[in-house]
Formats: sequence, structure tokens, C-alpha cells
Amino acid sequence: MPTYQLTVNGRLRHVDAEPDTPLLWILRDTLGLTGTKFGCGQGVCGSCTIHLDGQAVKSCQTRLKDVAEHTIITVEGLSKDGSHPIQKAWLAEDVAQCGYCQPGMIMTAAALLKHKAHPTDGDIDGAFAGHICRCGTYPRIRKAVKRAAGGAK
Ligand code: FES
Ligand code: FES
Repeated sequence: MPTYQLTVNGRLRHVDAEPDTPLLWILRDTLGLTGTKFGCGQGVCGSCTIHLDGQAVKSCQTRLKDVAEHTIITVEGLSKDGSHPIQKAWLAEDVAQCGYCQPGMIMTAAALLKHKAHPTDGDIDGAFAGHICRCGTYPRIRKAVKRAAGGAK
């Protein structure tokens, strides 16, 4: 079985696994980073979203062989103490209900703001088009993204 070298949340990790193993499996089962959630496993719910070289990607659809030598950030690595503007805005707007989809939502929101400091409603809707929240938190997610961008108090 080949060994792959990954940088996850700033830490170099060596992983022995088959090349086509989904990154989601590696994060949760091998590295114990269970903040990233398994929802559909088919690329439609977004609960498994992480950052790969700063881009939001679905880790259930990302193969181990494609992320070697790349930089991965999971929800555990977004900040050390919950101080990321998106995390603070999420709390301020009381976004989460059951919470299951939220790590993926937060990672997409953080990537959106990184690439677009003041997103429009259309930008936000577009960014979250690949996410499903069964609790219907979409209006609060939009408010939280705007708060984090400085557009809402
Ligand atoms: S678990 Fe990856 S998109 Fe649903
Ligand atoms: S908060 Fe429950 S699925 Fe989104």
C-alpha cells in the first residue's frame, strides 16, 4: 500500500492507504478529524467540505492520490480558538440547529470570504448551491456571511 504525505491543519501527516480512498475517509477514520461530516458520500450534500489549497472542496469526492503534497484545512484547523470571523458570526446569528451540515457550511463560507470580501446574495447562494441543510438554516447562513463580511450588525 502506498504512503502519501499530506499537510493537514498545518501538520505533516503520512498516510498508508489505497490511492482512490476518499479523503473524507482518511480525515475521519485515519486521522481522527471527525469535525468533517459524512452525509451522502455522493457529492450532493456538502457536509464533507474542507479547504484544499484554499478552495472549498467536497472531501468525499476527492481521492487521496490527488491531494498528496497539497494543503488541507478542516473545520478543526480554521482557527485555534473559534476566533475566525465566520465562526464568530455563526454564533452571533445562532445559525446551527442540529448542526450536522454546519462544518461544511462554515468551510464554504470561509472560502467564499477569502475570495470575495463582500459577497452579494447571488454570490452566497451560488457558493452554497452544493449544500443541503435539512433544518433550513439558509436565511441565517446568509445573515452570518454578511455579518462576517462587515455588512450586517
Ligand atoms: S458527504 Fe460529501 S457531499 Fe455529501
Ligand atoms: S443545521 Fe441541521 S442539517 Fe443543517
